[in-house]
Amino acid sequence: MVRGVFITIEGCEGTGKSTQAALLAEALREAGLSVTEVREPGGTLVSEAVRDLLLDRAHDGLDPRAEILLYEASRAELVSRVIRPALAAGGAVVCDRFFDSTTAYQGYGRGLPLDQVVRLNQFATSGIVPDITIVLDLDPAEGLARATGGGADRLEAEELGFHERVRHGFLEIAAGEPERVVVVSATGTPAEVSQRVLEAVGRLPVLAAVIH
Ligand SMILES: Nc1ncnc2c1ncn2[C@@H]1O[C@H](COP(=O)(O)OP(=O)(O)OP(=O)(O)O)[C@@H](O)[C@H]1O
Ligand SMILES: [Mg+2]
Repeated sequence: MVRGVFITIEGCEGTGKSTQAALLAEALREAGLSVTEVREPGGTLVSEAVRDLLLDRAHDGLDPRAEILLYEASRAELVSRVIRPALAAGGAVVCDRFFDSTTAYQGYGRGLPLDQVVRLNQFATSGIVPDITIVLDLDPAEGLARATGGGADRLEAEELGFHERVRHGFLEIAAGEPERVVVVSATGTPAEVSQRVLEAVGRLPVLAAVIH
């Protein structure tokens, strides 16, 4: 069976994930690939409704177990309706956040047991794993300053210590799975970061020929 390539972009608030996902998708399209861009939470009717619930400041203090299940519900819909079909058709999928965000935020950030978080991630995705994951790394204070220009959402409004734990979580995930997860410095201009991202995804044999 033909199977496309699945790339996820991860990192803390304001590290440039959405900016870099768009630049990467553009570069892959220029290289002739059929590209599907998605973001989490979101990407289907139900997933976007769940996104609104999750980011709303009216829901400050949401129970962490309820929170993780909402993220997983959104993810299950996105995987089954969008990501799996796109990969089955042989396309590239660029996803702005995926299950590593749940491990970093709900596991390392909120303190839910990591083994249970990982099992919920596997359940929601029915086992799909990205071919490569880019973690954009930046001092959380710098990222929050970039991100909160239009007002902070429910996650951005968390204390700095929470964001420090999330950053540490992403770095631990990368250290544990170096063959899948690449840490890229998010400092510098968007074009400079994009160059690093392209070099990183060029490690994938299927993309080595199309990225230069
Ligand atoms: N390399 C960069 N240097 C400075 N500012 C940047 C850089 N990349 C993106 N930005 C700006 O920082 C803000 C956050 O960028 P972006 O939305 O891409 O980050 P994000 O990681 O997707 O954020 P969020 O966590 O809120 O989804 C935007 O205003 C964007 O224009
Ligand atoms: Mg974003």
